[in-house]
Amino acid sequence: MKIVSSIEELRDQLRGQLRTAFVPTMGNLHEGHLSLMRLARKHGDPVVASIFVNRLQFAPGEDFEKYPRTFHADVEKLEKEGVYVLFAPTEKDMYPEPQEYRVQPPDGLGNMLEGEFRPGFFTGVSTIVMKLFSCVQPRVAVFGKKDYQQLMIVRNMARQFALPTEIIGAETYRAEDGLALSSRNSYLSADERAEAPALFQTLNQVATEMRAGHQDIFLLEQQAMASLAARSWKPDYVSIRRRVDLQPPAAGDLAQGEALVVLAAAKLGATRLIDNLEI
Ligand code: PAF
Repeated sequence: MKIVSSIEELRDQLRGQLRTAFVPTMGNLHEGHLSLMRLARKHGDPVVASIFVNRLQFAPGEDFEKYPRTFHADVEKLEKEGVYVLFAPTEKDMYPEPQEYRVQPPDGLGNMLEGEFRPGFFTGVSTIVMKLFSCVQPRVAVFGKKDYQQLMIVRNMARQFALPTEIIGAETYRAEDGLALSSRNSYLSADERAEAPALFQTLNQVATEMRAGHQDIFLLEQQAMASLAARSWKPDYVSIRRRVDLQPPAAGDLAQGEALVVLAAAKLGATRLIDNLEI
């Protein structure tokens, strides 16, 4: 595996490649990331990964400084997955001057759910993803469904800017107890780790109620938030949305069998976890 940090070296390595499959990451790689690499391999060749902790998507006071950085272990894992090039730019490589041009997702999609609780987050994500795409010029790029809203925003961005990159969504990789793998799980204490699967269990309860014909969405959301709060979580939201645009379903949508997803974000101790489940 070639490890490159400058955009020029990356372009040299990828010159003439027309079927590149790309997986952008912020490092601290776990099985979830590696499953994205394997999916990428099925859709293109060569597979290119990036590791870059993108300051633009962290608000002041968030965990940019303490975000786990495990470069050497990450390199070993990517070598084993047969990744062809790892692009690991420094901040100076990526932002040699202040990034004044930014990609702003539409208000409706960018400011709801995660966007409401993390203002500026999706502008930071969209900007770095656009810039990484410009560097790597992939034919396909793989994003995990765990970051459901991010996947939708990137997909819409690629479509609206007519980017020549197909966006592929990968199923969420879970531990045996159901917890979605995330780099931020490493912040959890042993007790918190034992409690953490309750987030996915709560999503499953909501899905079960809906499948049983329960249609009062507001009540289901409130009950789910209350049950998390009773277990010492601090929920930001539990929200049932249409899969197609992440808008709240209208009354007619339920009758017509509109495809839905339930999304949640909640703090356990100092760690904020997100998850979702397609219903
Ligand atoms: O999902 C992530 O790890 C990040 O948001 C991404 C897509 C690599 C952009 O920094």
